[in-house]
Amino acid sequence: MRMYDIIKKKRDGNELTTEEINFVVEKYVSGEIPDYQMAAFLMAVYFRGLNERETYDLTIAMARSGEFVDLSAISGIKVDKHSTGGVGDKVTLVVLPIVACFGVKVAKMSGRGLGHTGGTIDKLESIPGMRVELDKSEFFKVVNEVGFSIISQTGNLVPADKKIYALRDATATVDNISLIASSIVSKKLASGADAIVFDVKVGSGAFLKDIDSARKLARLMIDILARYGKRAKAVLSDMDQPLGRMVGNSLEVIEAIECLKGLGQKDLEKLSIRIAKEMLELADVKVTEAQILEALISGEALKVFRKFLKAQGGDEGIVEDYSKLPVAKETVFVPSEKSGYVYKINAEAVGLASVLLGAGRSKKEDVIDHGVGIEVLKKVSDFVQKGEPLVKLYVGKRSKVDDAIKLIKEAYEIRQEQPEPKD
Ligand code: URA
Repeated sequence: MRMYDIIKKKRDGNELTTEEINFVVEKYVSGEIPDYQMAAFLMAVYFRGLNERETYDLTIAMARSGEFVDLSAISGIKVDKHSTGGVGDKVTLVVLPIVACFGVKVAKMSGRGLGHTGGTIDKLESIPGMRVELDKSEFFKVVNEVGFSIISQTGNLVPADKKIYALRDATATVDNISLIASSIVSKKLASGADAIVFDVKVGSGAFLKDIDSARKLARLMIDILARYGKRAKAVLSDMDQPLGRMVGNSLEVIEAIECLKGLGQKDLEKLSIRIAKEMLELADVKVTEAQILEALISGEALKVFRKFLKAQGGDEGIVEDYSKLPVAKETVFVPSEKSGYVYKINAEAVGLASVLLGAGRSKKEDVIDHGVGIEVLKKVSDFVQKGEPLVKLYVGKRSKVDDAIKLIKEAYEIRQEQPEPKD
């Protein structure tokens, strides 16, 4: 078998066999296929597409490139959730304690921020003392005792995705539904959960900007998992403005804790309840949304969150005293240049502004500043007077404040007519 022939076959729009797809993944991971051939292959896939069977084969081949985590040391049905990536998305921190309140376990491996989107591991690392690199036996122990644990993905989880994703990122081949589905689902398969809920983001701050593509991605991921014998569901959620009001690591942890206290922003609370309900249903636990809300209001979910912090070395005191978290002292307000209603917010630009402040990485080796970020003061449908602030920036020593202000100003579209509020 030759890579040249496989590239040509896909370039000409033909279907690849399972053996050919296995060959591509195995030989690329082993270094026998060079980046330039893989880049050409990815571009051929980008234009010609993969059918469902080919996407399934690619997913399985990628998953098999590394270890499969065996969660059998944890009793019961293990559910997981996965967000396709958004701005201000702290849902995991709210949902996992809720699900654990109802006796369902979650052994979650999360990632770091990717491009303009944040990552749960970066958020957790803003908590003093928090450990996100546990060995397997400690990970299982925390899940069994607390009900959930979140650790960073181990080095050997789907090495094929690490290599392929980096190449996709450099060759404009990220936003292809088959490539996204195989990347996400391979990691979910290798992480070992029995059932998965996908939060597929759609809108200006998501990888997929239109609803039809988001639906196709959701359907494809569910079908791949069904073919493998795992249960999955998907929720499509709005990413046409940041979720909640906070963007940035410590800031998002605070906002998640507020939600766990029953004082959350409505859009964050509503989405968290929806996802928790779907996760519980996949584990055969039927609950109403009112019961889930009660877990927040009663403080039960917060209690579980505290246990989780303690079990992983984090300072539980942050729950009462937010000053224990590293929040930047210096703030800058960004004023509106005209009066009117917020008609649209380009959430991707808000995410990029947050990266410019130092909350995310422009390059893999960048060190992030956990205390910086953005508080969104005006959301879609709000009225704003000329000169009134749209957002508050939390800035640090390395923040590129002027560039961030410029992006925020461009991100807001102010019009005279009031649009429907989003939630
Ligand atoms: N998230 C992933 O893990 N992979 C993609 O391809 C896109 C988003």
